[in-house]
Amino acid sequence: MDPNVEKIKTASLNSITLATTPQDLETVRVKYLGRKGLISQHLSQVKTKPLEVRGAYGKDLNQIKKEVSEALAAKAASLETDTPTRPTLDVTLPGESLPLGAVHPIRRTIDEISEIFLELGFSIVLGPEAELEYYNFEALNMPVDHPSRDAFDTLFLQSGALMRSHTSTVQIRHMETTSPPIRIIAPGRVYRPDTVDASHHFMFHQIEGLAVDEDITFADLKAVLTIFAHKYFSPDVGMRFRPHFFPFTEPSAEVDISCIICAGKGCSVCSGKGWLEVLGCGMVDVNVFKAVGYDPERFTGFAFGMGVERMAMLKHGIDDIRLFTDNDVRFLDQLR
Ligand code: PHE
Repeated sequence: MDPNVEKIKTASLNSITLATTPQDLETVRVKYLGRKGLISQHLSQVKTKPLEVRGAYGKDLNQIKKEVSEALAAKAASLETDTPTRPTLDVTLPGESLPLGAVHPIRRTIDEISEIFLELGFSIVLGPEAELEYYNFEALNMPVDHPSRDAFDTLFLQSGALMRSHTSTVQIRHMETTSPPIRIIAPGRVYRPDTVDASHHFMFHQIEGLAVDEDITFADLKAVLTIFAHKYFSPDVGMRFRPHFFPFTEPSAEVDISCIICAGKGCSVCSGKGWLEVLGCGMVDVNVFKAVGYDPERFTGFAFGMGVERMAMLKHGIDDIRLFTDNDVRFLDQLR
C-alpha cells in the first residue's frame, strides 16, 4: 500500500477511536470523507498516477473509504448507546411552592370574636346591607327629623332605601320574627359617607350583640363584655363603662379598655389617656321593645355594637384602616 494512503488510514481510524462525541465524529468525517476531505482529494489524484500503480492505488483508497465510513457508523452507534440519558427530573431540587391563600384579617377577627360569644350561648344572625329607613332609624327610637340621626351619617339609595349605617338594624329584624329569650350577635358591613383616612372608611364592619329575657340586668351586660374583653385582648385588661347616649339603649355606656400598648400609662395610641374606647352598649330602650311588640314590663335586655376593624387594629397594632382594603399581600399575609 502506498505509504501516504497507509498514513491516512491509520490517522483516520485513530481519530474515530478517540472521538467521544457526535461532533468529534462529524469533524473526522469532514476531514477525511468530506468533498474536500483527504480521501476524496487522493481519489481525484488517481488518474495522475502511473498506469502500473493506478489500479491498486484506487482500489486501496476505495477500501479505506469504505472502512472509515463503517468505523464512523459503528462509533456513532456506540456513542448513542453509551451516553447515559440525562435525568429529566432532579429530585434534589427544592419544590416549587405555590402561594397559599389566607383568611382575610377582618374575616379572622369576626370569627375570633364570634367564637367567644358562641361559647357564651349566643348564636349568629345576619341582616341585609341595603336597608329601609325604618330598621336603621325609626324602630331604633330615631324618629324622622330627630337630631340623633345625625350621629349615623347615611348613604341613601335612589329608591329611598339606604346602606345601613350600623348593625343595630338586625336587632329589630330579629326581634320582629323571634320571641325571647334572645342571645344573638350580628356581624356585617356598615356604610357611612366618611372621607377615607387612616381611621375612617366609608365601609367597615360591626358586630352587634343582643340579649333579651325576663330579668336581664346591666350586671349581665358588664359580665358578658368583661369576659369578652379578657378573652379577646388579655385577662389583665382593665375595663371602664362611661355613661353615654344612644337612642336605642337606656342607660347607655361606652366601654373603654386599659391601653394594651402602654398598660394604662398613656402613650400615642391612647393619646395619653391610658384608655381605649372599644364599643357602645346599653339596656334596650323601652321604645325599641314597643316597636317590635315586646312587653317592656316583662322583658329587659342589653345590646352592644363594636367595630371589627377597630378590634383588629387595637389587637394587632395596625395603624391604618386602609390596609384592610388595599389588598397588599405583604400585609394580608401576616395575620394567618
Ligand atoms: N349602633 C351603635 C353604633 O353604631 C353601637 C351600639 C349598638 C350602641 C348597640 C349601643 C347598643 O355606634
